[in-house]
Amino acid sequence: MTAHMEFMCTLGMRDWAAPAPHSKMLLLLLSLALGAEPGAGALRLNSTEGCEIIHPPRDGGIRYRGLTPDQVQTVRFLPFNYEIEYVCRPDREIVGPKVRQCLRNGTWTDMSHPSRCLRMCPKIHLSLENGRAVPQAMERVPVEGTWVEYHCNSGFRLVGSSRSNCTKAGRWTSPKPICELRRSTASGSGLGPWVTLWLCWAVQVPGFWF
Ligand SMILES: *[C@@H]1O[C@H](CO)[C@@H](O)[C@H](O)[C@H]1NC(C)=O
Ligand SMILES: *[C@@H]1O[C@H](CO)[C@@H](O)[C@H](O)[C@H]1NC(C)=O
Ligand SMILES: *[C@@H]1O[C@H](CO)[C@@H](O)[C@H](O)[C@H]1NC(C)=O
Repeated sequence: MTAHMEFMCTLGMRDWAAPAPHSKMLLLLLSLALGAEPGAGALRLNSTEGCEIIHPPRDGGIRYRGLTPDQVQTVRFLPFNYEIEYVCRPDREIVGPKVRQCLRNGTWTDMSHPSRCLRMCPKIHLSLENGRAVPQAMERVPVEGTWVEYHCNSGFRLVGSSRSNCTKAGRWTSPKPICELRRSTASGSGLGPWVTLWLCWAVQVPGFWF
């Protein structure tokens, strides 16, 4: 478990702005970090039986439990019931299956559903003061394809866009709108009688103004 934590930190500190490391490199990085785990190498591999290894998603890697770095580099088949887990670069979230298991018939679970590492959009767009933000097509966090619809409480008026889309760059297409208090018609008419009174008085006593 500690090994996992340390490896996540290593991931977090890497400069991802630099040319994106090829997924193979990331895979190597993961496996090297995990190789330090106690009990590694206990897994028995058979070079012809099991499930053939699969590629990690773009911008992600695969966590192989119980394999030595050497094994990760050379393995072609993983044993039945073995589980692989996908991990994404720190600014991304996995969408689709996070874990796949090797089935008896030599396939991995849920292969009809792709796993993708998508950029997250800021969560601040998921709330709206004096109104409601209704997220659609949301994963655990907002990602590419998610959008938010905004509605204001009664008595408030929406200023800005009523919809914002999360783009693949991890940005919202519109700034978050605000709900502005409607100028109350009641307070306007409240002033009415006083204004009328003053006007009438001014008309009746024109000399007052001079
Ligand atoms: C690998 O699996 C095959 C098929 O079950 C078996 O015949 C073979 O002995 C196994 N090899 C090892 C090294 O366990
Ligand atoms: C393997 O087994 C799973 C579940 O038992 C099934 O959904 C899948 O279609 C099978 N794949 C093949 C290639 O037989
Ligand atoms: C968000 O996506 C919808 C549907 O694709 C589109 O109609 C709308 O114009 C988009 N909004 C913005 C601000 O890009």
